[in-house]
Amino acid sequence: MSLIDDLEQLEAQARELVSEASTEEGLEAARVALLGRKGELTGLMRMMGKLAPEERPLVGRRANEIRAAVESLFNSRMEAMRREAQERRLAAEAIDITLPGTRPAIGHQHLISQIIEEIEDVFCGIGYTVESGPQVESSYYNFTALNAPTDHPSRSARDTFYVVDNAPGSVSHPEEHAHGESDILLRTQTSGVQIHTMETQEPPIYMIAPGRVFRPDTADASHLPQFNQVEGLVVDRGITFGDLKGTLDHFVRAMFGEDRRTRYRPHFFPFTEPSCEIDVSCGVCHGEGCSFCKHSGWIEILGAGMVDPNVLMNCGIDPEEFSGFAFGAGVERIAALRYDLPDLRTLMTGDMRFLAQF
Ligand code: PHE
Repeated sequence: MSLIDDLEQLEAQARELVSEASTEEGLEAARVALLGRKGELTGLMRMMGKLAPEERPLVGRRANEIRAAVESLFNSRMEAMRREAQERRLAAEAIDITLPGTRPAIGHQHLISQIIEEIEDVFCGIGYTVESGPQVESSYYNFTALNAPTDHPSRSARDTFYVVDNAPGSVSHPEEHAHGESDILLRTQTSGVQIHTMETQEPPIYMIAPGRVFRPDTADASHLPQFNQVEGLVVDRGITFGDLKGTLDHFVRAMFGEDRRTRYRPHFFPFTEPSCEIDVSCGVCHGEGCSFCKHSGWIEILGAGMVDPNVLMNCGIDPEEFSGFAFGAGVERIAALRYDLPDLRTLMTGDMRFLAQF
């Protein structure tokens, strides 16, 4: 009967091993040691052959019972371990879908882009097209074709960023070569787009050209070395100063309010004749005079004038048949006037606390 004792001892040993096992691997190793093909139980079963025939059924039954018990012991422990591991994984990987999410910060158009679009809307509404031209420009388009004499002070390196001085063959215009000028520069004004447009389109022309311009100014509260202008050009039959005035009055009121008044002051630009600067009545004091308008009651907002016949001729347009007007406005200046910005540099720094206000 010592075989039954051995079997029962094996069962006790199995219980102990199962309760001690802390990993699936450890449990599996113990199972193989007891129940595997070369395991202890197999060894005991083999000894059955040595028993007396009358003992065999009893011991055999007991042996089978113990084997079943030990197997189910291992199986249920293994199952429990797998379940626990699964639960631990589920707990660790759980996502609480009821938690509030992190919203991505969605930006919006920069104030300058908003104002440019608004200006485009005003002019598209009265039939203008929107044109563009290169920011790196030749001196022909930035100055010469615009009737600026070769000794005009704005051409000096103090007022213009030059990229290439007198680069041979860098300008396609033969007139430019004839004058020995072929400088490449960062455009100082959008007025060169007038020339590009008149070279490529037949009148009638009604266009605006918003864009970046560059001047060697040190950035301060009222200057930026890089800023935006919106140019305008009309060329058609019978265009008069009255058309200029009606158009720009409409523009100023659309941008600043119907109650605003305008004032046209004589001025000089090489490419327009006559030329003027246009002021809008101060929105703070309504013309009474205050610190915002430096006690004049007016704020300068546009340069404009009738296109000089020389400019039309430079572009192959007959000034006897066609006339036109042009204008230009600074976008940053419009922004500053509208929102009373004390420092233009805030438009360039990308500080979200400032930009998010608009
Ligand atoms: N280009 C001029 C400037 O930068 C503005 C302007 C444009 C004036 C068109 C008249 C006509 O000052």
